[in-house]
Amino acid sequence: MTTDSDIARLRAEFQQDSARVSSESDLQALRDKYLGRKNGLVTALMKSVASAPPDLKPALGKAANELKQEFEQHLNERRAALDATKAPAGAVDISLPGRTPLIGHRHPLTIVREQIEAIFTRLGYQVLEGPEIEDDYHNFEALNMPADHPARDMQDTLYLSGEVAGLGRPATLLRTHTSPMQIRYMESHEPPVRIIVPGKVYRRDDLDLTHTPMFQQVEGLVVGDGITMADLKGTLTAFAHELFEPDTKVQIRPSFFPYTEPSAEVFIGCVFCHGEGCPICKRTGWLEIGGSGMVHPAVFESVGYDPDRYTGFAFGMGIERIAILKYGVDDIRLFYENDLRFLEQFPL
Ligand code: DAH
Repeated sequence: MTTDSDIARLRAEFQQDSARVSSESDLQALRDKYLGRKNGLVTALMKSVASAPPDLKPALGKAANELKQEFEQHLNERRAALDATKAPAGAVDISLPGRTPLIGHRHPLTIVREQIEAIFTRLGYQVLEGPEIEDDYHNFEALNMPADHPARDMQDTLYLSGEVAGLGRPATLLRTHTSPMQIRYMESHEPPVRIIVPGKVYRRDDLDLTHTPMFQQVEGLVVGDGITMADLKGTLTAFAHELFEPDTKVQIRPSFFPYTEPSAEVFIGCVFCHGEGCPICKRTGWLEIGGSGMVHPAVFESVGYDPDRYTGFAFGMGIERIAILKYGVDDIRLFYENDLRFLEQFPL
């Protein structure tokens, strides 16, 4: 049985609910609660009129209708008010938090290369680059590796075009090391020489944990009066102390390169275990960083330097190798995959 007081209660409840509406979905919920087709409270009221005693029907029906219209009007007004506060389509929402722009990082190999350049610049070296497309003469011949020298097999060469006269071998190639710049520089400059040459080199290697067909080296060359192997070791030691740690040990071990005599492999004390022995140094306590030696007299002869007057030392180091040791990277391919998750770990 519906009475006037039921209607008054419904109105009061509606007003209370309406006061809490602050969004479009609140408004929809309010409409559903009172005017919903199935379970709306006003809808139910209207239905109950049908079962009211005949004498009360007209008044009750009128009151229910008025209530429905009143709520509808109220809901429409609320909707209009909400719409008025809505930003027009395409407007900028200035209340949204800003998006921080991504800042690029320098590539780890760039960082290492710049550190190497800075160290040698302070030691008075000039930094040069050379051509990546080389000829047989500068890459091999002038470095004391004649046509059928077995040392040519040490590096698997990517040949380009042309042919070395009478040898059936292409004349141009992708340089397999930065050493040809030793020849190019000495061909056009008199001693004293003090240069480093960073740059890309190429070899016929398949990609794996430790090989990429393109990688980077830094070559060093010093020529003058009375340069000795002690200068070589002192220079490499000063370099390692700057690049790694002030007490990093340097060891040179007898080796062979056609363009140096004597030749030496360069090792540093393991920067991970400090000589204790760990998997990275294969329990030896030492890590190889490159090759070096005293410039071979045959190399001086090919550039027209007097081997009886001048001596010099040379070295070549792998930049990826140094970056791997400096940052503890376990896969050389990471340097060339451009994965931001890897690259973002390095300083800006
Ligand atoms: N060219 C050598 C290589 O690619 C590295 C090297 C060894 C460079 C001895 C030198 C050197 O200047 O003296 O593996």
